Amino acid sequence: MSVPIDLKGKKAIVFGIANDKSIAWHIAKRLNDAGCRIAAGYQERVEPLFMPLMKELHNPIYDKCDVVDDALLESFFKKVQEEFGEIDFLVHSIAFAKREHLQGKFMNVDKRGYEVAHQVSAYSLVELSRRAAPMLKNGGSIIAMTYLGSEKAVPGYNIMGVAKAALESSVRYLAYDLGEKQIRVNAISAGPIATLAASGIANFPEMLLNYVAKAPLKRNITADEVADCALFLCSDLSKAITGQVIYVDAGYSVMGI
Ligand SMILES: NC(=O)c1ccc[n+]([C@@H]2O[C@H](COP(=O)([O-])OP(=O)(O)OC[C@H]3O[C@@H](n4cnc5c(N)ncnc54)[C@H](O)[C@@H]3O)[C@@H](O)[C@H]2O)c1
Repeated sequence: MSVPIDLKGKKAIVFGIANDKSIAWHIAKRLNDAGCRIAAGYQERVEPLFMPLMKELHNPIYDKCDVVDDALLESFFKKVQEEFGEIDFLVHSIAFAKREHLQGKFMNVDKRGYEVAHQVSAYSLVELSRRAAPMLKNGGSIIAMTYLGSEKAVPGYNIMGVAKAALESSVRYLAYDLGEKQIRVNAISAGPIATLAASGIANFPEMLLNYVAKAPLKRNITADEVADCALFLCSDLSKAITGQVIYVDAGYSVMGI
């Protein structure tokens, strides 16, 4: 039995498109193809690869927005408010830590590196949710992206694992805050996928090999498979699911070896 998911008339804010490998791009495309309009916030540094992608979407809106810049946040949300009025979905697919803190010993992270990783990768979910909340319709859905390094020590993932733990906890508190409006907040915990962000993790090639060797499905996952889960989380098929971390990882997280 196939269950088509129709998002015609729906509108989504998507953060985290850097290029055509980005998980956020695969999610935006999937939502777009289901009929949803996209408002994308992007960092200036990714503009050359971001702009051509917008031509593949139906009537998108987009604007520069760095989540550490209050003025850009203000103008981005003003633009979305003016053009969309209400929205249905918010996709948070952004993370950042300094490259030197994604290798070697975790304990070598300095205070600034610790703060930056948390500000961009975890606090930004809270800030974007708070700014989006007045526009989010009842029945809306917020999705964040996370990784197993939040709950297990994954060598090299280091400070990003600690920031992802804060992100996942924020998902649960936001789910409680927004639940009375029937707005759901969930995280997708994806297996490793070769993207720009992943290229900063020193042990990334080993992570990919580990999944093929140890995951029950004996393979890696694709960004399209993450996008399928995001589509499900934006649909009514998931309307009683909130506060959860959903694993799209070929089953790797259930293994004990
Ligand atoms: N690739 C993987 O293996 C993997 C696995 C699990 C979870 N994730 C998570 O998925 C999300 C997306 O990462 P990706 O792998 O698609 O990589 P990506 O490099 O394509 O996306 C990361 C995005 O974060 C954005 N970003 C960083 N700092 C920002 C800031 N200050 N303001 C606004 N945007 C900012 C970048 O512009 C980029 O678009 C991240 O949260 C990442 O941790 C990735």
